[in-house]
Amino acid sequence: MDASFVRVFAAGLFALALAGLAFAEEPAGDAANGKQVYLMARCFTCHGRVGQGGGFNYPVPALAAIELPVEAFQAFLREPPNDMPAFSTAILSDKDAADMWAWLHSLPGRKPTKDFPLLNQ
Ligand code: HEC
Repeated sequence: MDASFVRVFAAGLFALALAGLAFAEEPAGDAANGKQVYLMARCFTCHGRVGQGGGFNYPVPALAAIELPVEAFQAFLREPPNDMPAFSTAILSDKDAADMWAWLHSLPGRKPTKDFPLLNQ
């Protein structure tokens, strides 16, 4: 094995390790700002005040406790496939979108049915 191959191989391993770290880390976001942005951008009119879901032509998905990766969330806002209006970077920055994701991700999701006594009689 010559030295340059070893160097390239080592650099490759290093890059992989860095990529691994990037994926392992929870994206940082300012949830308090995210809540403001969510309300000001009027996402709540369709998705509910606490991301519980709602209606617009047909049922609108809940966003509380969102599992969608932050990059997919941002991409969705830029080009929603169906009835949701688009939010371009001109009106909603990537940072504000990431903050919004952080807030939505931190919200409790739906309660399981076992937590509703009436549904367990
Ligand atoms: C006018 C109503 C409306 C507004 C306002 C709106 N949405 Fe939506 N949103 C929808 C509808 C309808 C869907 C379902 C989209 C589909 O049919 O693919 C959706 C889907 C989504 C999804 C995909 C969720 C999933 O589980 O598939 C995300 C994420 C989302 N909206 C985020 C937002 C955010 C953040 C805002 C504010 C910046 C916002 N939406 C504003 C109507 C709206």
